[in-house]
Amino acid sequence: MMNQAKVRVPDLARMKAAGTPITMLTAYDFAFAKIFDEAGIDVLLIGDSLAMVVQGAESTLPVTVDEIIYHARMVARARKRALVVADMPFLSFQVSAEDALRNAGRLLKEGGAEAVKLEGGIFVAETVARLTRVDIPVMGHIGLTPQSVHRMGGHRVQGRREGRGPGCRERLMEDARAIEQAGAFALVLEGIPAPLAREITAGVSIPTIGIGAGPDCDGQVLVMHDMLGLSSSFVPRFAKSYANLAQEASGAATAYIREVRERSFPGPEHCYGFKGA
Ligand code: KIV
Repeated sequence: MMNQAKVRVPDLARMKAAGTPITMLTAYDFAFAKIFDEAGIDVLLIGDSLAMVVQGAESTLPVTVDEIIYHARMVARARKRALVVADMPFLSFQVSAEDALRNAGRLLKEGGAEAVKLEGGIFVAETVARLTRVDIPVMGHIGLTPQSVHRMGGHRVQGRREGRGPGCRERLMEDARAIEQAGAFALVLEGIPAPLAREITAGVSIPTIGIGAGPDCDGQVLVMHDMLGLSSSFVPRFAKSYANLAQEASGAATAYIREVRERSFPGPEHCYGFKGA
């Protein structure tokens, strides 16, 4: 039986300690957030993947703080149990720690989020510390960080090469420790080899939440469009589709179009003014 109690930031540390896997999904609107919350998801993320899966952009770079706030509000209205985390978009936290503080504050004040997530390691640790010092809970995100798409030359698995350069093995461990020490309460590990994710998970005290990072993270996250089979474009190898809603929706739309054209919809049961209606 699912625990109905509200999930709060400190609960994630308790879940890691207890060995209870943390479940996280992205959501961008009221309808799906309500379904996932009622199904018992622990964390709802308004990801900057919004740019790609909702807005149709080629990368996550164009999405703005205002747009994340707009969608976060819808998700927050549906939340009863889940912890709501909002992503900090590209350039909303890199310019200065003050800027980051103002934008993160807006995600909580205007968006209704309970925490923010931001991408990066050692170089954003000071910013993470600035936010956590004023009690804005921060979830880190290292590995395949989609906001670094141009440096990486695409959405490429990280941590395969030895070394301390960006995206290299030793560096990712240092990034994880820096984010932990800066006060983050959890860390997303994206697109890294499973053995490295296991090592990082064992090497930090905060919970890790994996996506394309193998089974040994403290939790897992998927983009809802991948999980529901709603994506019309490329679906990464690590994403499992638990449904095929694109096919369902297409079938429903085709049936509706046919019935309207052949005048079998609306039937008497859908009309007012007929006998018995
Ligand atoms: O933007 C997003 O959806 C994310 C998840 C993939 C973790 O950052």
